[in-house]
Amino acid sequence: TILVLDFGSQTSHLILRRLRNLGVYCEMLACTTKLKDLPFKPKGIILSGGPSSVYDSVAPHVDPEIFDLGLPILGICYGCQELAWRIDPTNVARGEVREYGHTELKVHNSGDSKIDRLFEGIGSEMDVYMSHFDKLKKLPTDFCIIATSANSEFAGIAHKEKPIFGVQFHPELEHTPRGSEILHNFAINICGANPAWKMENFRAKEIARIRALVGPNDQVLGGVSGGVDSSVAAAVMKEAIGDRFHAILIDNGVMRLNECEQVKETLGEHLGINLTVVNGGELFLSRLKGVTDPEKKRKIIGKTFIDLFQEEAIRIEKEAEAKPDVGPVKYLLQGTLYPDVIESVSYKGPAATIKTHHNVGGLPDTLNLRLIEPLREMFKDEVRAFGRELGIHHDVLMRHPFPGPGLAIRILGEVTPERVELSRRADHIFISEIRAAGIYDDISQAYVAISQDRAVGVQGDARVYGFIAILRAVVTSDFMSATPYEFDWKLIKKISTRILNEVDGITRVTYDMTSKPPGTIEME
Ligand code: XMP
Repeated sequence: TILVLDFGSQTSHLILRRLRNLGVYCEMLACTTKLKDLPFKPKGIILSGGPSSVYDSVAPHVDPEIFDLGLPILGICYGCQELAWRIDPTNVARGEVREYGHTELKVHNSGDSKIDRLFEGIGSEMDVYMSHFDKLKKLPTDFCIIATSANSEFAGIAHKEKPIFGVQFHPELEHTPRGSEILHNFAINICGANPAWKMENFRAKEIARIRALVGPNDQVLGGVSGGVDSSVAAAVMKEAIGDRFHAILIDNGVMRLNECEQVKETLGEHLGINLTVVNGGELFLSRLKGVTDPEKKRKIIGKTFIDLFQEEAIRIEKEAEAKPDVGPVKYLLQGTLYPDVIESVSYKGPAATIKTHHNVGGLPDTLNLRLIEPLREMFKDEVRAFGRELGIHHDVLMRHPFPGPGLAIRILGEVTPERVELSRRADHIFISEIRAAGIYDDISQAYVAISQDRAVGVQGDARVYGFIAILRAVVTSDFMSATPYEFDWKLIKKISTRILNEVDGITRVTYDMTSKPPGTIEME
């Protein structure tokens, strides 16, 4: 294992990604983690970048004992400055200019292979990405220069005797095209990490971890939605503890056409998960009656979800008490992914639990259940690979995200049973046509919203007054920004015609051309 100590950089998690792509197992912990608290023995340590200045009185610092282990250490950006600052605080200061973006790095060959091995195979020059204001002002004692750039005299440094290295640039970014080679040199050649990490190892390790944690009798509860994360998390729990895992699907009345049936089929029948479907449709719709404000709609749905989930948890708990052969319900399964916990491992320390609680939406506080998060070390594409390992169908794994409040935030204004029906049927046509055209995986998210306003149309010879279907399809890599998908004109015309012909009550079809920003992906 390579240990990454995180100083809170936006890109720290990419270090893990690159290392795992190399087959190297790694874990990230807060930079302030004490050596004595380490849950494993690392082969080497990487100090990440971070937004602070090392000389600031409130700046985060590593446990100085990590330097006494004799382990290889690589400092990246802030991590490099931390190495230098430890040796002498006057080694680091604010630069005259901020160095930001691509720069040409000159690699220095010292002739000593122990010193040169970080850049082994790179040659004399390399394109790198820099993002820093502070810089090394002096070469730390016992170090030598291994790379320079126009603005950084000490863009790469190495200890003359010990396996300690620092780089000012970011090898983890794609903008540093050969950055993976630097991480390969460090992790595999210098630390001697074994590049044998694979998804199968993760499966066995995670199942063993869950079994040890949950014990032979305890039970686990978890909400499922049919989305990728909750489905994969449920599948791994089923494999680990069988029917002591209870999956709960709450039908909130604003799910897509046939969605509950699909979840029953894929999770219940196909994977054999102990699944309970709670029919909350009427309750949700009655509480939403007359409500038009989007935030109020979200809050009502969130609260109703918790109410029903809690009722179910209490019921299962009572049943468990009556059964002599099973123990109490002690854990709540959560499909939290790595990007959700990034904040939690940053140097802010206590943020760990705050963020996790935030994701749970308040459930554990009221239920007194401990969290179990089998996917917390994974990125989305890894979750999909894991799901494939566990036998989950491709269509489930590649599904577009669907928001918790469901169609309710796509039915603009008041959610009425009539417009839920319009939304479901139009959405079904849109998504089916996208699938049939083979472009589902090219689009990040697609749906149909239903307007609050109505428009006149003519059907047969009669004047009709119906609602407007607004088609939305976006392309995005991170859902923070997005652009509208460029449809083939014939296809979008066909979709429009089908919706107008097949869904009574819709008299217009429009396509939403708004990017994010300034728009958002959802309409409400
Ligand atoms: P926006 O509309 O903010 O959406 O651009 C970004 C992504 O988040 C999803 N989204 C939600 N997911 N509960 C969820 O679980 C919500 O309340 C919610 N609101 C938006 C949205 O579908 C998109 O993928």
